[in-house]
This record gives sequence, C-alpha cells and structure tokens, in this order.
Amino acid sequence: MTDIIAALREEHAHIGQLLDILERQIAIFDRGEVPDYDIVEGVVDYFQSYPDLYHHPKEDLVFHRLQIRDPEAAAVVGDLRQEHDELAARTREFAEAIRAVLDDAQVPRESFGQWAHRFIDFQRRHMAHEERTLLPAARAALTKEDWAEIEGRCRDQEDPLFGSEVGDRYEALRRDILLWERESGGA
Ligand SMILES: [Fe+2]
Ligand SMILES: [Fe+2]
Repeated sequence: MTDIIAALREEHAHIGQLLDILERQIAIFDRGEVPDYDIVEGVVDYFQSYPDLYHHPKEDLVFHRLQIRDPEAAAVVGDLRQEHDELAARTREFAEAIRAVLDDAQVPRESFGQWAHRFIDFQRRHMAHEERTLLPAARAALTKEDWAEIEGRCRDQEDPLFGSEVGDRYEALRRDILLWERESGGA
C-alpha cells in the first residue's frame, strides 16, 4: 500500500543526485569555465521526460486523495498542482537557456547562471516540502482502497535513466552518475 510512497522517495533520491551533478557543472560555469553541456542537457532532458510526466502526476493523484481524507493536512501541503506547473515552467525556461547557449545566441552569463540556480533551488525546495508534508500525511491518512485506486491510475513507465534500459541520449550523464557514486562512496 505504501509502495507508491517508497517509489516516490526513490525518485526523490534520484532527482537529488541529478541536482548535485548539475550543480557541479554549474559551479564550473560560475568559475568562467566550460561545463559539460551533454551532462547539463541530459539532466534537463531527464526532468522533462520523467519527473514532469510521471513523478509529479503520481503525486497529484496522492494529493487528490489526501484532500478527501484529510483536508487540513492537504491545506498544509498547499497548491501542489500549481507548484508542479511552476516547476515544469522553470524546467522549460532552463532548457531554452541551454539551447540558446549551445546555439551561440547572446545569452548573458549571469542570466544563464541565474536560471540554473533558480531551477536547482526550486526543485530542492519542492522535494523537501513534499517529504515533510505530503508523504507523511498521505501515509497516515490514505486507505488501502486509495492506494489501489492510485496504483490503477498510474501510468506505468520505466524510468529512462535509472531503469534497466538507458537510452543513448543519457550516455554522458550515466557515466557521470557512476563517477559521482564512486566519489561519494555510493554503489
Ligand atoms: Fe512534486
Ligand atoms: Fe516529488
């Protein structure tokens, strides 16, 4: 019944790891050097291909049930759907900034850095908020039937980066994730 919560938490861990990886590239950019844009693009591409399409919609379903079971707890979570729209908009904004830089358009350095930091900060704040409010409240308030209903409505989609099949487009990113894991003493 709480498998969905475990899945969401695991996805948060992956998202957190990618934000660390992205932040490392942006630190290179902030120093006036050239980051690995394959990695930067890969991270943003991933956010648009998986979290925006599958992770947040799953949370929206959980949130909807929470509004029915415990409106007060849902009020503490706030307007989650609106926040997800906002996140998707920031991701699009950042993706456009990367494309502009790669196309050699005249993008002021500070703007690119600002978009990048805003993207990272917003994603982290959003996730921490969900971990603090949405997930524990849902665990406490939702019934077995709620979880079964959510499960039935979730579109099953394998994670294109952390699943068993990683597409070519994520090759550079996958390599960096392995490096990151080795350096941080992970898997
Ligand atoms: Fe979310
Ligand atoms: Fe989330």
